[in-house]
Amino acid sequence: MDFTPAFVEHITQRRVDLRTELEAILPQPRPIVLELGCGHGHFLARYATEFPEKLCVGVDLRSDRIERALRKVDHARLNNCHFVRTEALEFLHSLPNGVTFEQIWVLFPDPWPKKRHHKNRLVQPHFFEAVAARSPEGTRLYFRTDYAEYFESVAAFLPTLPTWQRDQHAAWPLEHETVFQARADGYQSLVAVRTSHPARPTGKVAPGLPPPTNPTSTA
Ligand SMILES: C[S@@+](CC[C@H](N)C(=O)[O-])C[C@H]1O[C@@H](n2cnc3c(N)ncnc32)[C@H](O)[C@@H]1O
Repeated sequence: MDFTPAFVEHITQRRVDLRTELEAILPQPRPIVLELGCGHGHFLARYATEFPEKLCVGVDLRSDRIERALRKVDHARLNNCHFVRTEALEFLHSLPNGVTFEQIWVLFPDPWPKKRHHKNRLVQPHFFEAVAARSPEGTRLYFRTDYAEYFESVAAFLPTLPTWQRDQHAAWPLEHETVFQARADGYQSLVAVRTSHPARPTGKVAPGLPPPTNPTSTA
C-alpha cells in the first residue's frame, strides 16, 4: 500500500504525541493492568478502586467514551487509573520501553459480524503475538463477548498459538457489569495465559497504517 508523505507525517506525529502522553502516565517502567476497548471505563475504574496497588490503563478509540471514563477517575479520585484515546495496536507500538502487562482485559470488543469484516476484529492471532511481546509468563488475558461466533473463533485459534494457551481454571478477578454487558442477552468468557515460549517479533500495526518508524523502541 502506498502512503502519501503528508499521511506518513501525520501518523508519525500522532505516534510521537502518543508516546509523550504515555511517558507522562508511565514515567517508571512497571507492570500495568490494561483494558483495550474500555468504552466508558466502567470496568477499569471499578477495578482500580478494588485494587489500589495496581496501575491501570484503559484505551479506546472514541474520545466521548474516554472523556466519560476520565470523569469517573476524577469523581473517584483515582490516582492509579488512566484512560487514553487511541487505537489499541497503536498504543502497543507506542508504549515506553520496559512497560509490561500484568493482566489484559478485552470485554465485548466490536464483533464485526460479517465474514468479510472479520479481519477488523481486535482479537486475532496477530493481536496475541503483539501483546505477548510485553507479557511475561503467567500474564492473563481476559476475553468476554456476547457474539458466539467471535468467541468460538478465538477458542479455536488459541491452541495454535505458540505463546498463549487457554486457562480453563483461572478465576475472573473482578465481576463488574460493563455498558455492553448490561445490554447483552448472554455472553461467553475465556482466559488465556502467557506461556514460556518466546514471542515472535511482529511488525503488524493497525490495518491501513504504515509500520512503526522505530520498531526497536517498542520492544
Ligand atoms: C462494543 S464496545 C464495548 C465497550 C466496553 N468494553 C463495554 O463492554 O461496555 C467496543 C469498544 O471498543 C472500542 N474499540 C473498537 N476498536 C478499537 C480499537 N482498535 N482500539 C481501541 N478501541 C477500540 C470502541 O470505540 C468501543 O468503545
